[in-house]
Amino acid sequence: MSLFKNDLILRAARREPVERTPVWMMRQAGRYLPQYRAVREGRSFLEMCKTPELATEVTLQPVDLIGVDAAIIFSDILVIPEAMGSNLELIESKGPVIYNPVRTASDVENLKVIDAVSDLGYVLDAIRMTKKQLNNRVPLIGFSGAPWTLLTYMVEGGSSKSFKFSKSMIMDQPKTAHRLLKDLSFAISDYLIAQVEAGADIIQIFDSWASALDPVYYEEFGLPYIEFIVDSLKVLDVPVIVFAKGANASLERLSKSGAHVLGLDWTISLAEAKSRVGNSVALQGNMDPSFLYSSPESIEREVKRILSLWGPETGHIFNLGHGILPDVPPDHAKAMVNAVKQFSVR
Ligand code: CP3
Repeated sequence: MSLFKNDLILRAARREPVERTPVWMMRQAGRYLPQYRAVREGRSFLEMCKTPELATEVTLQPVDLIGVDAAIIFSDILVIPEAMGSNLELIESKGPVIYNPVRTASDVENLKVIDAVSDLGYVLDAIRMTKKQLNNRVPLIGFSGAPWTLLTYMVEGGSSKSFKFSKSMIMDQPKTAHRLLKDLSFAISDYLIAQVEAGADIIQIFDSWASALDPVYYEEFGLPYIEFIVDSLKVLDVPVIVFAKGANASLERLSKSGAHVLGLDWTISLAEAKSRVGNSVALQGNMDPSFLYSSPESIEREVKRILSLWGPETGHIFNLGHGILPDVPPDHAKAMVNAVKQFSVR
């Protein structure tokens, strides 16, 4: 017997029978919601992350306002680099900036070895507070960035198009890159275990920049570290979602990583992905986030199309192929969620 009023996402992740397809959205707690912008007004993003009352409040907003089937704890993938010593700021028009990028072996050696409970306790407090307020309505997703994606932010000093410094590092100083990836893997694993102990019911690992690497290099600098983390979570018995954005060439390989669910972006058909991974994993995705700008009628048509690519079996978690964009009308997000609820009934 499940404690939850709605545990569809947990059952779909384990490919157990469901009455309908569960749905949530990456970045569902965010700027497209006027209620989020009201809480954010006059505060920095990091202050929001570090104040459990505020993080809890915005985590619950999409559950109450949009009707999603899971909450995801409000935080950011960059809190780990910040705890390790990255001097991080989120600039409205530019995205994240890290003022002291990591470029050499000694930069890597000088990073702080973190302990999740003492260095990221504010996230764990937010998880405990959110769990209390959710009162088992829906499960809570905990998350982290994957080692490769976190390396790119730390080495570039922010977002990048060319990956100039991170790709130079893997080619010119592979040992330094591996050392950083290994340090990050230990920190991430410790952090995710602490999130589950604080109450997270399911975990997502975001490898947002998986697509930047050729599969051969992803096999060397991405996958083994994800596998280490997934493996370290095995004892906890929570489902793990790996979202390796754009790594479609590595799907078969990812399906053997130990993850319960693979997240897909919108550049692959759900039917093709399903046939390539067989019955080994559940899949999450994969509506184009920009289609939420189109009319509610078009959104409904697109939801039906994606649902029909999957068919009636369990093992599909509906989501966007990437985060919801900040200027999408909330009613359009609601139209997507309602269409999934209506048209996926078994
Ligand atoms: O999904 C959720 O609702 C939970 C919260 C969440 C945030 N970031 C909040 C956030 C999650 C899961 C993330 C993950 C994240 N952060 C990723 C992986 C997912 C992806 O998009 O690929 C990445 C790469 C980041 C790094 C990051 N954080 C960037 C590039 C930016 C700036 C760009 C942007 O969208 O503004 C952020 C800031 C950020 N993280 C915001 C939010 C709500 C916007 C900050 C604000 O309020 O101004």
